[in-house]
Amino acid sequence: MMATATSRFHLEPPPWLYARLAKGPLFRRLYRRFVADLAAALPPGARVLDVGTGPGYLPAYLARERPDLDLSGLDLSDRMIRRAARRHPELRKWSVADAQALPFPAGVFDQTIASFSLHIWPDRALGVQELVRVLKPGGRAWIFELRREAAADELRQFARAEGLPFLMVYPGFKVVSWHHSLRQAEFDPILRAAAGCQWELQPVHHLLWRAELRRAQVPAHRPGRTPRDSSPNFLPP
Ligand SMILES: C[S@@+](CC[C@H](N)C(=O)[O-])C[C@H]1O[C@@H](n2cnc3c(N)ncnc32)[C@H](O)[C@@H]1O
Repeated sequence: MMATATSRFHLEPPPWLYARLAKGPLFRRLYRRFVADLAAALPPGARVLDVGTGPGYLPAYLARERPDLDLSGLDLSDRMIRRAARRHPELRKWSVADAQALPFPAGVFDQTIASFSLHIWPDRALGVQELVRVLKPGGRAWIFELRREAAADELRQFARAEGLPFLMVYPGFKVVSWHHSLRQAEFDPILRAAAGCQWELQPVHHLLWRAELRRAQVPAHRPGRTPRDSSPNFLPP
């Protein structure tokens, strides 16, 4: 099988294979959960950027639920973006770029999203800083990743909730999460490095991490002052 190397230690399936897998029932269920979380939290007409969008399924599902949103998708792989643009021409705003150097000025999006992509970025902290930099004051970045710590009981609950056989979910998760998941100990320092925002990391939907970062309403530091570190775990409800 051909594979695409995106960093020294990381192998990704080629775009055509990922696009096919992500169309399957398990991914569709996960996207449905992301969309439910996001659709409930996004203000009307919000400008949203999906970073590492892959074949663009998440913005496409989100657009169905919230046609009012102004959605853009970005990916390092031009083959992924060509695929996304071909399948979802109605969304129009697709770009090829690196998450670690987003081609947008600061403060232009209401929301940024990265699902199943952060774990691949060579400099994850820099990528997260970029997700926050392009946010308007008060805007939010949402990151979804598989949670390496998910236990058999949680996978069983996920399987039950989704009507899937545990004997499919358990080994599938174990194989995929080996290279495509994050532990809390890996996540925390990345989020802590994102200065000028509040953040929260929580286990959601039995097998995922959801990190939320909110950019401060006022500039985090003024000229002549020392920047303060971001603070964990105090997002208002
Ligand atoms: C596992 S796929 C996830 C796709 C999509 N977010 C989803 O949930 O189905 C990871 C995607 O991240 C992209 N990617 C990897 N490194 C990237 C980077 N540095 N900047 C932007 N995208 C990147 C890959 O090309 C791939 O399309």
